[in-house]
Amino acid sequence: MDKTRLQMLLSRLKPLEDPDAELEQYRTSPDIAADVLNRMELEGALEGRAVDLGCGNGVFAIGAGLLGGEALGIDSDMEAVETARENLERVEEETGENLDVEFKEKDVKDLEMDAESAVTNPPFGVQKRDMNRVFLRAAFETAPLVYAILHRSEINPRETQEFLQNFASDNGFEADVVATYDFPLPRTQEFHEKEKKYIKVDLYRFLQV
Ligand SMILES: C[S@@+](CC[C@H](N)C(=O)[O-])C[C@H]1O[C@@H](n2cnc3c(N)ncnc32)[C@H](O)[C@@H]1O
Repeated sequence: MDKTRLQMLLSRLKPLEDPDAELEQYRTSPDIAADVLNRMELEGALEGRAVDLGCGNGVFAIGAGLLGGEALGIDSDMEAVETARENLERVEEETGENLDVEFKEKDVKDLEMDAESAVTNPPFGVQKRDMNRVFLRAAFETAPLVYAILHRSEINPRETQEFLQNFASDNGFEADVVATYDFPLPRTQEFHEKEKKYIKVDLYRFLQV
């Protein structure tokens, strides 16, 4: 499936109805998700099972399934899991395909499984400090190849990059920034002032060494 069709199908997924600020339920836009998945496919990361950590509405797991991969999406929020399951059903109806995708309610801290790759857009760690590192550690324990969308400091992006490279190295991985995106954050909470704002995020590829 080409990237344009993938993006179109992902754009029809239902977002979470009532995003929870505590859980930092910011959704990845269809164009960014399609780009990440396209890279994963080209790099062979969808050839075995892919785990989507903090799946939200299921965008990465469903996208991986649409590209012919096997995927499992997990989220600690049952509403997110239900939305992802609903989206999966809708996509299967629309495409007439039976995707090798499932969703489970699970906390990343209790993730005990093996996969060939992991993909995640973790909570940026604004509400609960270090949450992004909790996600990364769980991903490192699950798969030898990890793709993660990570928020970076606008003031000193190199510092974030160096920190993440050291963090990866301490966990037996090497880290590369493979893409940078302007990530749209829609106004999903009362306290957000603007309708939409963009922040810079980097897509990291972590490879076990
Ligand atoms: C930034 S959102 C990303 C959602 C989706 N993957 C996307 O990219 O659109 C982070 C997701 O992590 C989930 N989450 C937060 N804490 C979690 C935890 N401890 N274990 C599992 N999922 C968690 C949230 O419910 C939310 O759906």
